[in-house]
Amino acid sequence: MKEMIHGIHASSIRTTDYEHVRDRSGGLYYNWSEVTFPNDIGNCLVCHDENTYDLPLAENVLMTTNRTTGVANGQDATTAAVRDARKTVPNATDWVITPATGACYSCHDSADNVAHMEALGGAIDKNRSDVLGYVENCVACHGPGSILPVGEVHTALNE
Ligand code: HEC
Ligand code: HEC
Ligand code: HEC
Repeated sequence: MKEMIHGIHASSIRTTDYEHVRDRSGGLYYNWSEVTFPNDIGNCLVCHDENTYDLPLAENVLMTTNRTTGVANGQDATTAAVRDARKTVPNATDWVITPATGACYSCHDSADNVAHMEALGGAIDKNRSDVLGYVENCVACHGPGSILPVGEVHTALNE
């Protein structure tokens, strides 16, 4: 949900189109890059209550399954193969995103941002089996009292 809502509304700052495919009517492709947001996308309080947009996340937040797939490279041969993979989630081959990184990456999606997050323990679209040992280290610099707290760097929050 967080990737989808952030991704759909953040076209003004994203560097790539937010896209997804839905298995309805034979498969529908969505591209959300034309959707604008009638407010400041950096103002988290437009959608969030206080204390729901900051780090650290709760300890039990799951990784996001961004692509359900039965093959490591994500290129299932048929729609039926994708449907089969959906019946066995979680699959070792699914593409996942680690929890804090997913929240940030869905707005901050540039190649530089990805490199930064992956260097500090985040994983984006990696096979589930490869991510088990990952520990995100974001709070040290983006948590309360750090150098760049989420609740302070988003400038609209301070106005
Ligand atoms: C367009 C509405 C919208 C805006 C604007 C928005 N968010 Fe979100 N955010 C959501 C939704 C919806 C969720 C998912 C909530 C859920 O799954 O219960 C979410 C989830 C999150 C989460 C995960 C929370 C958790 O407990 O796991 C974080 C972190 C987050 N947002 C950060 C931010 C930050 C930082 C900003 C501002 C820079 C922001 N969001 C702006 C809608 C928004
Ligand atoms: C050692 C400190 C440190 C850690 C740990 C860290 N960051 Fe950062 N982060 C920074 C600094 C410094 C910047 C500002 C870079 C700039 O302004 O060019 C930044 C910027 C960012 C930005 C904003 C980039 C932009 O568009 O300007 C995001 C998003 C981000 N970090 C996410 C994360 C995530 C997710 C993690 C954990 C996986 C993380 N960071 C861990 C220091 C850190
Ligand atoms: C809903 C979109 C959105 C989400 C989600 C979001 N940001 Fe941002 N972020 C922005 C925008 C827009 C700015 C530019 C400053 C502003 O307008 O508030 C920004 C600015 C920043 C900056 C300052 C960058 C600089 O160079 O000064 C940092 C650091 C940052 N974000 C980190 C994060 C981290 C860490 C997360 C995840 C917990 C996150 N952001 C989630 C939209 C978002």
